[in-house]
Amino acid sequence: MERLQKVIAHAGIASRRKAEELILHGKVKVNGKVVTELGLKVGPQDKIEVEGIPVEREEPVYYLLYKPRGVISSVQDDKGRKVVTDFFQDIDKRIYPIGRLDYDTSGILLLTNDGDFANLLMHPRYEIEKVYVAKVKGIPARAQLKQLEKGILLEDGMTAPAKVKMLSLDKRKKTAVIEVRIHEGRNRQVRRMFEAIGCPVMKLKRERYAFLDLKGLNPGDYRELSPHEVKQLRALALSGNGIHK
Ligand code: URA
Repeated sequence: MERLQKVIAHAGIASRRKAEELILHGKVKVNGKVVTELGLKVGPQDKIEVEGIPVEREEPVYYLLYKPRGVISSVQDDKGRKVVTDFFQDIDKRIYPIGRLDYDTSGILLLTNDGDFANLLMHPRYEIEKVYVAKVKGIPARAQLKQLEKGILLEDGMTAPAKVKMLSLDKRKKTAVIEVRIHEGRNRQVRRMFEAIGCPVMKLKRERYAFLDLKGLNPGDYRELSPHEVKQLRALALSGNGIHK
């Protein structure tokens, strides 16, 4: 379910603010009844009319992008930097990223125009598992990795238990490559976790999102998710068990 003004804005009829004005001025009907209340939630089956004209809903679409480093996870940037939707110039739908990856993080990012789906996957309660590979400065001791696994205190609270695996290390350069599996999606979480143990991240990539990986894609490539994958993601989130077994 999405807020009425958001659905109107997504359909390209008006900006979010203008949509609110239209609602307040009694110009919007839902299932034949005038609605003047802001924030009413509507589903795909609800019939919406603006000034007597039915609102055409966009057909929902779902994409997986291999986000390169140096790109903002947004649909626009005030500073004119490259944004993830720049890779979808040939798509005429109003898609946006589900969650975000930092400017300097590469890897899997899902995009959609389906607000319910995006909310479902972003909700911390639904615990979708994400797998990151981090190259870090310094070689963390086993006890430090255990600390990351158990949960570590960041400025916004303790992190939930994670799975952490050392993949390789370079004793001469004093760097290590470490895999981290987490369910949370706090801002800069993986970077902050490694900072907290004194091993700052030099490079970060999200290699998996639930059962999805980057096979066959190069940075900047995208592919459409299959209807089956979309169903699986929905089922996984709703089962409250983001780990795909
Ligand atoms: N954790 C981070 O620190 N950065 C990301 O982009 C994703 C997870």
